Amino acid sequence: MSQTSKQEQGSVDPATYRKALGTFVTGVTVVTTVLGGVPVGTTVSAVSALSLSPPLILVSLARKSETLAQIKRAGIFAVNILSDGQNDIAACFATAAGAAKFDGIDYSYGQNGAPVLAGAGATIECDLEDCFSGGDHEILVGLVRNATVEGDPAPLVYFRGRFFGLGGGNAEV
Ligand SMILES: Cc1cc2nc3c(=O)[nH]c(=O)nc-3n(C[C@H](O)[C@H](O)[C@H](O)COP(=O)(O)O)c2cc1C
Repeated sequence: MSQTSKQEQGSVDPATYRKALGTFVTGVTVVTTVLGGVPVGTTVSAVSALSLSPPLILVSLARKSETLAQIKRAGIFAVNILSDGQNDIAACFATAAGAAKFDGIDYSYGQNGAPVLAGAGATIECDLEDCFSGGDHEILVGLVRNATVEGDPAPLVYFRGRFFGLGGGNAEV
């Protein structure tokens, strides 16, 4: 088998790998952008701090994501870090409903023009600095232009396919 084929197939059972990843507790974000006045966004857990100086953040999005396509066109995005109680928003933005995801959502536009969701614990606004290939995902590097922190809300977290609010309670996706 060629090196490429080995890389494509790997050796781990995909379901087991997915289950293993699910045991890694993450925060929950909605990554947004806007193109031609139309807001788009998706629920994302694959977000990581990358650098403080310069301020960089890393976001991993599936190649098939509509939000990824729009971010690459717009060149800007915002990472909205969700709070306890925003389960419905996380579930809504995990669908493929396009701009309709914003129906009934309370949001404004940040300094860079990307949608900022009301009630998010923090929002990090970025220019798209770089984009790397990562299997069936793409790795976005954002240069952080603005960050806002709202009060001191408990975060929404994700573990084994469920949302948990660190303020108490849990719910299915
Ligand atoms: C808790 C949670 C975390 C998710 N994390 C990611 C992620 O890190 N990257 C990703 O590409 N999709 C992630 N998804 C799936 C996307 O939200 C989903 O595929 C969505 O329909 C994509 O929408 P879009 O095509 O409009 O961008 C996650 C879904 C959930 C429920």
